[in-house]
Amino acid sequence: MQQLPTIFIIGFYLSSVALTHTQESCHVNDVGCQLPEDQIILKTKEQSESWMSAFMDQFETLKNFLFGEPSWNEDRAREDKFNEEMSFGMDEDLMIKYAQSLASSMLEGEQLKVFTKAATEVLMQREDKDADGGIIDDYSDFIYPPVKKIIPHKVGHVQHKELGVGPPAKLITKSLNPPLFEIPNFLSDEQCDHIIKMSEKKGLKESTMFQPKDRTLAGNNKGIERVSYMSFLTGKDIDKSLLNTIHERAADLLDIPKEVVQWSEHLAIGMYNPGGHYYAHLDSNEDNNGVPCCFQKLCYDHDLNEVDYIDCCRMCRYATLLYYLSDVEEGGETAFPLADLTLNEMLNKESTHWQNLTETCHEASVVIKPEKGKAILWYNHFIDRNGYITNVDKRSFHGGCDVIRGQKWIATNWISTPLYQHRHWASKYREKFYEYMRTEDPVQMDHA
Ligand SMILES: *[C@@H]1O[C@H](CO)[C@@H](O)[C@H](O)[C@H]1NC(C)=O
Repeated sequence: MQQLPTIFIIGFYLSSVALTHTQESCHVNDVGCQLPEDQIILKTKEQSESWMSAFMDQFETLKNFLFGEPSWNEDRAREDKFNEEMSFGMDEDLMIKYAQSLASSMLEGEQLKVFTKAATEVLMQREDKDADGGIIDDYSDFIYPPVKKIIPHKVGHVQHKELGVGPPAKLITKSLNPPLFEIPNFLSDEQCDHIIKMSEKKGLKESTMFQPKDRTLAGNNKGIERVSYMSFLTGKDIDKSLLNTIHERAADLLDIPKEVVQWSEHLAIGMYNPGGHYYAHLDSNEDNNGVPCCFQKLCYDHDLNEVDYIDCCRMCRYATLLYYLSDVEEGGETAFPLADLTLNEMLNKESTHWQNLTETCHEASVVIKPEKGKAILWYNHFIDRNGYITNVDKRSFHGGCDVIRGQKWIATNWISTPLYQHRHWASKYREKFYEYMRTEDPVQMDHA
């Protein structure tokens, strides 16, 4: 147990920073940056929470400073090392207790009471919920990597990002809530064509939309309708080096470990003919009495009907990365009717047909035109300060407007990540993914 001495080192470090550095302003992620005075003088619960959050951020920086960045490599030995390193970061309850004791040396009276209450609430939220049956793997020494979000800055903001493989990405901010980006030419024409060819080879099925019968998802998912064809491409249906390239580019783009992408659902291909559309819906599910995430639990085992399915697991798609595989002559836009709306503006929409995109596509706050190779990225969930998902962001409602002329092809890469209390559970796609990767490549690109 090396944790206690380390905590003391950090404690000493933080205290000395607190005593010696009184910068007017600095970024909280900078080592040596001291928490602003107004966050230490706690008047409200919000303030104490923001203090705690700043503390946790600073703690991350300190941890990296002391131990270096954890490595996210594929081979087992490194994974073990990573787990070892992460087991330090894992003990955050201890951290909060430490924060409390640090606070008690700096705060007094009412301020200390408020802080202690907030810290206790955070601790209570972290209590692990009971594990259900059907869980894939529960490792005490495994931690699902945490995730983060790209900062959107402001609508119209352009940022360039170097990716490990292929050309850099140009991200254009389309909305702040949810953070939504357009990324032109994320895939090449050849890559798009290959994916379409492989889906045609595998065969597409008329889409059946999974819709709960006696429950409305996320408050209001009524009126959902979908007219399209779809198929899932697994590792054995697609050129492996291409799949690998897509995973790598997606991970670098999102700034998350490649494993999180590899262990998510298979690439979902969608095809829409004229008249085809998909009304505004959410990609992920709100908490439902603590049911586990679908990517961490097997629910297909027992011929469940849809209503039971939703009691078995819920979608935890923290981000959606959607690739346009074709141009569309007319129509087929992706619309976000609630993006960047205030709560009042959302409430005002309630009596309208905002989910029916046949009718209201062009009234949506963000409408994106399909272009071959372009990707769009948005976040469906809020995440906690540890990098695990919390609630669904309702402003991520989106859908496909009617195709007027031409054919629309898309591929969707849903990125799933667990709840904090389920961070020790593996993904059910993990083993399958490695299995596909070990088998011989049945299809290859450039075999014209
Ligand atoms: C959506 O709007 C169109 C055009 O107004 C209408 O024809 C269609 O029936 C509506 N769909 C639903 C499910 O209400």
